[in-house]
Amino acid sequence: MPEHMTAAVGDGFEQNARDAVYRAMFTRRDVRSHFLPTGLDDEVLARLLLAAHHAPSVGFMQPWNFIVIRDAERREKVRDLFLAARQQELPAIAEERQALYRKLKLEGICESALNICITCDRERSKGSPLGRSHNPEMDLYSTVCAVQNFWLAARAEGVGVGWVSIIEAQALKGLLSIPEHVTPVAYLCVGRVSEFAPKPDLETHGWGRRLPLPELIMSETFSGQGEVLLKSTVARLNTVSAAPSRPR
Ligand SMILES: Cc1cc2nc3c(=O)[nH]c(=O)nc-3n(C[C@H](O)[C@H](O)[C@H](O)COP(=O)(O)O)c2cc1C
Repeated sequence: MPEHMTAAVGDGFEQNARDAVYRAMFTRRDVRSHFLPTGLDDEVLARLLLAAHHAPSVGFMQPWNFIVIRDAERREKVRDLFLAARQQELPAIAEERQALYRKLKLEGICESALNICITCDRERSKGSPLGRSHNPEMDLYSTVCAVQNFWLAARAEGVGVGWVSIIEAQALKGLLSIPEHVTPVAYLCVGRVSEFAPKPDLETHGWGRRLPLPELIMSETFSGQGEVLLKSTVARLNTVSAAPSRPR
């Protein structure tokens, strides 16, 4: 942790710091368009990677690696993998949504400043799998925490991140020389952007909408009813935060 960031106790962070944390969360976007043709400072990238590296991990195993991909030719090959995978995915999409699916921009592999593949070394805690004996997939979840740290820090730095999952993993491993025991968890397009959209692209294009949070809260058991007060509090907060404000 950078030295100037001492741990706050008691009531938590000061109000403006608290607001900043929530602001990063509420205005974070998956970015596929709006990448600028400018590079990304190594100073900034280093801060994002440091944030990712401070994610929680099962047994403190830190299973991640960060492959930085700048080479244009390699990126074109990754984009080809994306185009092939999208074509393969198409038949699985409901027929009435296929035209919309074709129109959606679902990657910014070549337009972004650089790409980063965040991987999970599934053998890093070999021999002492604290927390993974019954749930071996916890290493993958840990890596996703690193991705989210990176994504939120990027938003705070004004850097766009787009996660591309429409890629055949084995082919990607081949292209990036990733060993068999390492899983590519996230392929990210990263770079400066001209804007952050106020809401998810898929919402703007009518693909999906944010589900009402009160309907997702359960009490005591799955599908358990209750928590009426909590649900109404959540609903009230949501109305306040839905007030239009342009993210900077
Ligand atoms: C695991 C994961 C995989 C994703 N894969 C893709 C993808 O292949 N292409 C894409 O355009 N967006 C992808 N996204 C981004 C989601 O579409 C996006 O997060 C969602 O629509 C909500 O929008 P927001 O991130 O801007 O809030 C992915 C997100 C996650 C968490």
